[in-house]
Amino acid sequence: MSHRKVSVIMGGTSSERQVSLASGEAVLAALTEQGVDARAIVLGPGDDALSMLAGADMDAAFLALHGKLGEDGCVQGLLELLGIPYTGSSVLSSALAMDKLKSKELFRLHNVPTPAYYVVDQDSAEQLADIHGSFGFPVVVKPRREGSSIGVSRANDLAQLTEAVELALAFDSSVLVERFVQAREVAVAILDGRVLGAIEIAPKSGMYDFAAKYTPGMTDYYMPARLPAARYRNVLNLAERAAEALDTSGAVRVDLLVTESQNEYVLEVNTLPGMTPTSLLPKIAGAAGYEFGELCLAILNGAKLHARKPERRATAEALTLPATPAAFELAEEASVVVRRYGAARRSQRSRTA
Ligand SMILES: Nc1ncnc2c1ncn2[C@@H]1O[C@H](COP(=O)(O)OP(=O)(O)O)[C@@H](O)[C@H]1O
Ligand SMILES: [Mg+2]
Repeated sequence: MSHRKVSVIMGGTSSERQVSLASGEAVLAALTEQGVDARAIVLGPGDDALSMLAGADMDAAFLALHGKLGEDGCVQGLLELLGIPYTGSSVLSSALAMDKLKSKELFRLHNVPTPAYYVVDQDSAEQLADIHGSFGFPVVVKPRREGSSIGVSRANDLAQLTEAVELALAFDSSVLVERFVQAREVAVAILDGRVLGAIEIAPKSGMYDFAAKYTPGMTDYYMPARLPAARYRNVLNLAERAAEALDTSGAVRVDLLVTESQNEYVLEVNTLPGMTPTSLLPKIAGAAGYEFGELCLAILNGAKLHARKPERRATAEALTLPATPAAFELAEEASVVVRRYGAARRSQRSRTA
């Protein structure tokens, strides 16, 4: 599908706003260079996102948002209602991937190994020592719905755990306490269901925190990840299964840990991964033969609506109602509503064009 007018949506109100602006600017420049009629929509605090998206003249939205209210299905839901195809995963998949607890529950259901964990919220934090019980140390504490290592810290004893939980609770009402896994870190890129490869990440400080992620020179990268062939394939396969468990679409990055003792764990799936030319997903895609501009075009070409089939007219049969006159009337009403909605949108577009 080719899209005439494209909006690159960036910014947002999450703690990853600056990262999103960097992704968005890079994507906008690359799409423009590829001859796409692209412009930016920069969402910000206090903005009426619905009016901004509804009022913009676009055939597709390239999402360069990260974090809450951007990567978590909220903006995706607005675009579904407006009938504007968008890049990345569906509302449901975006929401599941953003929520590390729900992701882990699905990983377990699909036999995707993920570090052992428990959940703490504002109320239960007071009984932390009891809840922690014999869980052991060290642990990693993280907000349930954040990104870029924001609010993530390691704790080696109960005092550090209390502090770490308090920190994470500043970012979310619910936090995960996870068993610390001594391991090498690997990220896998997937594009439209095709696994592109795995990169190894070696932060010089030993912690892949916000600074190590975004400060040039603080982390070494090995592409492809330095793993024996069979293990490399295993990691790719595991990442693919993790993405399938959450039913993702488009460009996805899966974060994993691989231990010396041959165990692999999935940490999380990112449905709108960082998109600057030096981000992990573009690095992996680059090694698989995609220049940054080509990668952006490939992602754009996957833009779609997930929640409905826009061309299909409602009929009594399609609604699986009994074929009574009342049912046909109901079906007719439904299709009139759909047609009116389409007409209203078209006239709104021509007014704003
Ligand atoms: N269980 C764990 N054991 C060891 N390191 C971890 C663990 N969980 C997270 N980390 C470290 O913290 C980083 C951020 O954690 P992650 O779950 O990927 O959240 P984010 O969404 O912030 O990227 C990881 O890249 C890894 O370096
Ligand atoms: Mg991560």
